[in-house]
Amino acid sequence: MIRHLLSGADLDAAAATQILDTAAEMATVAGREVKKLPALRGRTVVNLFYEDSTRTRISFEAAAKRLSADVINFSAKGSSVAKGESLKDTALTLQAMGADAVVVRHPASGAPHRLADWVAGSVVNAGDGTHEHPTQALLDAYTMRSRLGRLAGLRVAVVGDVLHSRVARSNVLLLSTLGAKVTLVGPPTLIPVDIAAALAPGTDVSYDLDVVLPDVDVVMMLRVQRERMNDSYFPSAREYARRYGLDGPRMRRLPEHAIVMHPGPMNRGMEITPEVADSPRSTIVEQVANGVSVRMAVLYLLLGGNKL
Ligand code: NCD
Repeated sequence: MIRHLLSGADLDAAAATQILDTAAEMATVAGREVKKLPALRGRTVVNLFYEDSTRTRISFEAAAKRLSADVINFSAKGSSVAKGESLKDTALTLQAMGADAVVVRHPASGAPHRLADWVAGSVVNAGDGTHEHPTQALLDAYTMRSRLGRLAGLRVAVVGDVLHSRVARSNVLLLSTLGAKVTLVGPPTLIPVDIAAALAPGTDVSYDLDVVLPDVDVVMMLRVQRERMNDSYFPSAREYARRYGLDGPRMRRLPEHAIVMHPGPMNRGMEITPEVADSPRSTIVEQVANGVSVRMAVLYLLLGGNKL
């Protein structure tokens, strides 16, 4: 097993499948009355969050606790980071405290890679800028596999703000490794030229959602990331929703078996309507639950926990 998980590209098909299979075993723990395994007893996991997060932070915390690790939650607000302490000094402090794993979310793309040079433990990228979010891609792959039975050959549309989406990048990398076929869909202003080919050969691009929908098994909607937009990428929210939002009539163009995904948080009424988000095809709540099992598997395998 690798030491750090920084990118979807860190995993080959065998390693990714090992994580998904381990996550399936971890999921059985969630169904028990006592949701705990002793696997990481005595190990320390630090959650280092420099950016807002609800799902990811809680999910890593739950995952580490279910494996009996000691968990230290660090958020930039209220720490010495607010006094201007550098990432390196923070890393050295964590190092001195004996962190076995550091889970990091940071607004700067590449921050987890730097951190990996400074700490002795494992680093897990929980989202860096507009770059990558590999555990989100793993939980998405897990959700697809558990709903549709396989990943190889699946046709997946990733729709919306690809430009600012670390979720999209990690998904394209991981899904192509696992044999799925990805089509990126959105306005040309939000799909960087050459991104598809640069990330993974065989990835397609389309600017027409209605044409793509009848031929996919999965449609993954991305949040429009206004906080990362310092420019106007589309005329108006209404115009965006009209062309690229997933509403009821559009959802009905999907094949019967197709599922609808979203990493959250959603802009309801923008990229997805409540009718779609709350429909039986939607896996949005399942994705959150699967996130805990997948993060348990990642921490367990990276830290070389005891035999299950
Ligand atoms: C995503 C993130 O923060 O990258 N959310 C998540 O982790 N579930 C996607 C987003 O913010 O749109």
